This record gives sequence, structure tokens and C-alpha cells, in this order.
Amino acid sequence: MRDTVAANTITANRRMSRFDDHDEVWLFGYGSLIFKADFPYITRRPASIRGWVRRFWQGSHDHRGTPEAPGRVVTLIREKGAVCEGMAYRITPAVFEHLDYREKNGYLRFATDMTFADGSHTEGLVYIATTENDAFLGPAPEAEIARQIALATGPSGPNRDYLLNLSHALRELDEDDPHVFALERQLLAFEGK
Ligand code: SIN
Repeated sequence: MRDTVAANTITANRRMSRFDDHDEVWLFGYGSLIFKADFPYITRRPASIRGWVRRFWQGSHDHRGTPEAPGRVVTLIREKGAVCEGMAYRITPAVFEHLDYREKNGYLRFATDMTFADGSHTEGLVYIATTENDAFLGPAPEAEIARQIALATGPSGPNRDYLLNLSHALRELDEDDPHVFALERQLLAFEGK
């Protein structure tokens, strides 16, 4: 049985004080932070970060699944030359208390450079669930991942809604993410749609 406290990243994230003395910070979101902005922000802009790909390789015990039947949510995996599109939010550091709680199932805050559509860039933060965290599941065949997503549900709702909301949000951003769209197709096929 895994120790759920070990997967709780709140304490580690509070030690990440890099931007604490800033009035405002840019936060890069690439998963649910794109489609579910349940926090106050000053402004938001589509943005991208380099060297990472989005993958449904992180287990979710607390939002889209349970400890007994974890769902799957996205994290970022290093890949040379890759570009991950998402949404950047300008927030005050006070918002991190809420975000650290929301992202506590394995996600750590990292400093990152991010680029906006007009080519300008800035430094900010991103939450990444690294391969070492207890809830990390890693790769699996697409059909298997889609099946797990189709069957899992947790306190934040069905895992399928996370995948479908994300693919919808990526389409709105004009982003082609083959991994996410393939899983969406597999999920709908599994559901007979
Ligand atoms: C993010 O959206 O940036 C992190 C992963 C998630 O909360 O789904």
C-alpha cells in the first residue's frame, strides 16, 4: 500500500520560494489548468514551453480516481526539441496556496521559460509530476490508457471528462496534440460512440 503522504507535495512546494517576493508570477498550465481556472488571475495568454511533451502518465488518486482505482491525468515528460502548448496565467503568489493543494498528488513547482504567441517570453512556474513521484504510472498502450480513463471516477468527476475537456480546450487553442487526440478517439470507441 502506498503512503499517500509521500505523494503529497504541499510541503515541498511551500519551500519553493523563488517567486515569493514578486508581486505577480506567470503560471503555465498544460492540463486541467487550461480548462478549469478555479483561481483568481490577472490575465491569461496562450503560451508554450520547450523541451516537454504532455502525457497521460500520472495517476490520479484524489481528483479523477481513487487510491483503489486511480485515474490518469497529464504530466510533462522531457523530449528534446518538443514544444508543449498551453495557457499562461498571471497570478499573485497568494494563489499558490490553492494551487499547491489542488496539485498535491505528485506535482512539484518548477521554474520555466515560456513563450507567448507574439514571440515574447518570460520566466514563470509550471507544476510537473516527475517520474519519481509515488503516483506516477508511466507509459502504457493507448487502448489501455483510454480504458482506464473511461472507467475511473473521483471527487472531481469522471476521468473521461478530464480527457474530453482537455482535447476540447486544445482544439480551441488550435493545438494538435497527437497523444491526447488519439486517446480521445480510443475513449469514444471504447464507449461505443
Ligand atoms: C496543469 O494543468 O498544468 C497541471 C496538470 C493538471 O492539473 O491537470
